[in-house]
Formats: sequence, C-alpha cells, structure tokens
Amino acid sequence: MLEFKQNVRGNVALGVNPLGCKQEVLNEIDYVKSKGTYKGPKKVLIIGASSSYGLATRISLAFGAGADTIGVSFEKGPKNERNLGTAGWYNNIAFREAAEKEGLIAKNFVQDAFSHETKQEVIEYIKNEFGGKVDLVVYSLASGVRKDPDTGETYKSSIKAIGEPVVGPNINMQKETFYTETLEPADDQEIANTVKVMGGEDWQLWMEALKEAGVLADGVLTTNYSYLGTELNHPYYGGGTLGRAKADVDKKADTINDLLADINGKAQVVVATAVTTKASSVIPFFPVYCIGLYKVMEEKGTHETPIMHIDRTYREMIYGDKPEYDEVGRLRPDSWELDSDTQAKTKALIEQLNEDNFTSDLTAYDTFFKEFSNLSGFMVDGYVEQDVTLEELKALEY
Ligand code: NAI
Repeated sequence: MLEFKQNVRGNVALGVNPLGCKQEVLNEIDYVKSKGTYKGPKKVLIIGASSSYGLATRISLAFGAGADTIGVSFEKGPKNERNLGTAGWYNNIAFREAAEKEGLIAKNFVQDAFSHETKQEVIEYIKNEFGGKVDLVVYSLASGVRKDPDTGETYKSSIKAIGEPVVGPNINMQKETFYTETLEPADDQEIANTVKVMGGEDWQLWMEALKEAGVLADGVLTTNYSYLGTELNHPYYGGGTLGRAKADVDKKADTINDLLADINGKAQVVVATAVTTKASSVIPFFPVYCIGLYKVMEEKGTHETPIMHIDRTYREMIYGDKPEYDEVGRLRPDSWELDSDTQAKTKALIEQLNEDNFTSDLTAYDTFFKEFSNLSGFMVDGYVEQDVTLEELKALEY
C-alpha cells in the first residue's frame, strides 16, 4: 500500500496525496452546491483548469451553473512509488468523475496550452464533440516557462523587482523560519521574458485561433485573472516584473475586445484577491503579506479561498447583479482585500512580525499552511485514510 508523505522544499510542495486531492475537489463541489444554482454559461473552455483559480472556476460553473467544460492543463501522472505525479493530475480526474456523475461533459486536455497543436485539438473537439461553440473562455494559466509556438524558443519568467532591489521579510515553510530576503532588480531582458510568459500574448493567440475557427458563440465572454495588490506588495509585485506582465494582459484585453466586437464578445480582466496557490507561495515576501492579510480578513469575516472567491465572482458579479468595475473596466472582486481598514491593519500587523511570533496566533500562518497543504491533498477536511496501490492510481484516466 502506498504511503503519502507531505514533502515541502522551501515553499514548494513536492509530495501529493491523490485521495486527499479528490476529497478537496469534492469539498469545493459541496461548497458550490451549498450556495445553490445560478444562471450562467453552458459551454466553457478553461485554460489552466487543474488547480486553484482555474479549478475553482470550473467547479463553480459546472456545479453552480450546470456548464459543460473543457479543461486544459499541464500535469504529470504517477510514475513510481516515489513519484506519484502532480496534484492537478488527480484534481482533473476527480473533477471529471464528479461532473460526469451529474451528466455534464468534462473533457481534459493535459498538454502544453502554449502550443498551436493544443489550440487546434481543442478547436476540433469543440467542433465535433462539444456542440460547436463555447460561450465562455477562462484564461487562468500560471507558468514559469513558455515555448514560443512559432520560433520554438523557450522563455523563462523571473519574479523580480524593477529599478531598485527590494529588501523584506519572507518565510520558509519547510524550515519554519522567518528571514530577510533581498530581491534583485530585473534587467530589460528578464522583464521582457516575464511579459512573454505571464503577459497576455498567449491569451490573445487562443482567442484569435478560436475566433478564426468560428467556435465562439455570439456574445462570448473571456476572462483572465490579474492581481494588482496594494502599496504593501507593490515593490515586488505591481512595480516588479509580474506587474509588467499583468499590464500587458490589460493591453491584450483591449486588442481582444476589438477582435470580438463583431460577435458582441467581451474580454474581461478580473482582478482577483490574494490566495494561497502553488504560484503565489513562491513569490518572495508574498507569504508574509498573506499571513498578515488573512488574519485581518478572518477577523472581519472576509477571508476567502479560491473556491469562495471565484464562486462569488461568477455567481454574484459576472452572472449576477453586483459587479464592481474600476475606471478602466476591470472587474474588482479584490475590493475586500483592498479595503482601507483591512490594509491599515495588515500593515500594522506585518510590522510587528519576527522569527518568534510569525507562526503564533497573531498571524494566520496556520491558515496559510493548511491551504498550502490542501493544494497537494494534505490536511484536507473530511479526508479518510484509504488503501490504494500504485497500479490503481496508474489505471485512473483523466
Ligand atoms: P496555479 O499554479 O494554481 O494554476 C496554474 C494552471 O496553469 C494549472 O492548471 C497548470 O496545470 C496550468 N498550466 C501551467 N503551465 C501550463 C502549460 N504550459 N499548458 C497548460 N496548462 C498549464 O496558478 P494560480 O495561482 O491559480 O494562477 C492562475 C492565474 O490567477 C494567474 O494568472 C495568476 O497570476 C492569477 N492570480 C493569482 C493570484 C494568487 O494570489 N494566487 C491572485 C490574483 C490572480
């Protein structure tokens, strides 16, 4: 029988509990069901569908709005007892099984979303087996590398400051330490590469290919998740390389809006709240911001996990009657995070943190660590240990 061990290196999770991942997906489905149904899209394509924001979107739309979904993601299956693959692999399987039980289509493409081939295969599937058109395209990809589909050149993103180095506190969850980190400024090439990987170019390529193929329904909506943050994380996020990439997403939204005008389509940037994900745990300093912010938001009753945030975003804002937009038309479900009292209290709290108190009740370290663990199927509510063999895991199909 397999033993599942949580293995954390720095702030990166290496181990996975496939059955815990399944339970986490079921918990998220239960959350959405507890909120009842809402009227939303019926045919949805989600690019980056296997974890965190993308998975939450898929779960909300399928189990809240009854949508058939196509999910594109890049995940790995089990190889041997020491390498059981990635959490997203098992999330895809758990989602498909649960959705199919309810009579919904849940098709998974586990391959490189940046390539032309993947785009064409998804288009063929929409044409031949998905009713011919989609009415929502969600872009929720987060990656450190991207291979340009035309030149074959591989670009790497760098999470860095711009201009001046940034010095600040960070935590290491593996060692439970609190230390001072220096983030060096990026050079021009690193800035350009980060925009190439995490900017809006691939989103635009997807929308052009889908439009060209005639698989976008009249009135199609496409969403892309951004983060703007606050003055507390501006030096290393908004003002850094990731901020440049997100500014590029805003620009590409304008281009996509022009592209979709004749089919009454819309590109919507959604500025989402700070949450614990594989991607966000490795942003320098960001975990310190989160353990302070979550504590304040928990006390105010506004702390959200990805499923809570995304379900509210689609149910109440995009397909509901409570949208909040900013002056350039971005949707702002992050307004709870940006609330001035929340920010002032977060700032005061973070300023008090040190090696001795960062895991204490003063902060939401426990919440952050639990949410981080949940991403790999550990510390999952309702999880009951079960026996499973490697062969059984290998036999699971996405
Ligand atoms: P994540 O790392 O949990 O998920 C990324 C998804 O992209 C996964 O499904 C993964 O399989 C897929 N993916 C990565 N490379 C791929 C490739 N080459 N081909 C196909 N699929 C690929 O990331 P997370 O945090 O949910 O981020 C999603 C978006 O949300 C990003 O744009 C991020 O900037 C944004 N966001 C995140 C916030 C946070 O606090 N985590 C806050 C606001 C926005």
